[in-house]
Amino acid sequence: MKILFYAPHTEAAAWLHDFARALPAADLREWQPGDNAPADFAVVWRPPREMLAGRTTLRAIFNLGAGVDAILALERAHPGTLPPEVPLIRLEDTGMGAQMAEYVTHAVLRYLRRFDEYQMLQGERRWKVLEPHPRATFTVGVLGLGVLGTQVAQTLASFGLPVRGYSRSAKQIDGIATFAGDAQFDSFLDGAKVLVNLLPHTPDTEGVLNARVFSKLARGAYLINVARGAHLVEADLLAALASGQLAAAALDVFREEPLPADHPFWREPRITITPHTSALTLREDSVAQVADKIGAMMRGEQVSGVVQLERGY
Ligand code: NAP
Ligand code: GLV
Repeated sequence: MKILFYAPHTEAAAWLHDFARALPAADLREWQPGDNAPADFAVVWRPPREMLAGRTTLRAIFNLGAGVDAILALERAHPGTLPPEVPLIRLEDTGMGAQMAEYVTHAVLRYLRRFDEYQMLQGERRWKVLEPHPRATFTVGVLGLGVLGTQVAQTLASFGLPVRGYSRSAKQIDGIATFAGDAQFDSFLDGAKVLVNLLPHTPDTEGVLNARVFSKLARGAYLINVARGAHLVEADLLAALASGQLAAAALDVFREEPLPADHPFWREPRITITPHTSALTLREDSVAQVADKIGAMMRGEQVSGVVQLERGY
């Protein structure tokens, strides 16, 4: 069994070493430009078009991340990049759920307990007790109730916060008020105090974090975007902060990454910035999951995590 690997931002040697241990019979190689030799599986992150195009004998392409927006954007720009009939399989959790729950909980509790404002007061050497936010109305809305959004929503609910969740298809999750589809979107947003985004980036969700959506939230609401930068209309966020409709935002993802040094977000003290780090791809967990799925496919079994191309995630 031949496996092609391409993930230039990683330590390829360490990944190949771990895959060799998990799949001792596999013949593993890191893809180099010009390598057209046959392969059974490809394991990739943001591959160039020429790596995959025409590889019709692949049994599967594994994406080393939860989001497949970059590879699908490449396919839209250059149709045929993804060989037809070859399943594209994304990572499912692999330790990202716990990381996301930590990141979002940290941000929500920081706003609930007003630690962000205390930090600013400390900068001014001011000793001042702020009125607590009432927990019962500190409603958190989680956009996306997939692998990551569900764990985030359930973790937040465990703090006794009112939590809502929004997805494409209807769901039932204990302790979460669920909303689905366009018809229920405004009810989901209505008066929420925190909006957390964990949607995939697809043509349907591009720019979903915009002025209209912010206007439906409670006045002085908070935004936490941990999904993709393309979900956010950046000018609308700055305007909502200026008007007071939003009180603050925690952003982990940006339209341009790294965020350019002259970007206005760096100068806005109510925006907290992290460098796309809310849920990292963990090598050990990811190798174990991909290796298990390769084993299952070799035995002719079905695997989960197959991307539905027409849906975009
Ligand atoms: P997932 O399991 O595919 O869940 C996606 C959720 O979004 C599902 O609940 C889906 O609804 C919902 N959804 C999709 N399109 C929708 C639409 N048009 N309207 C309403 N709901 C919609 O994905 P995941 O594993 O949770 O990951 C979510 C995203 O997180 C990834 O795509 C990636 O962009 C981002 N991410 C970021 C980081 C980071 O470090 N910042 C790390 C990992 C992932 P259904 O359940 O009805 O299908
Ligand atoms: C990271 O952003 C991922 O999609 O896994």
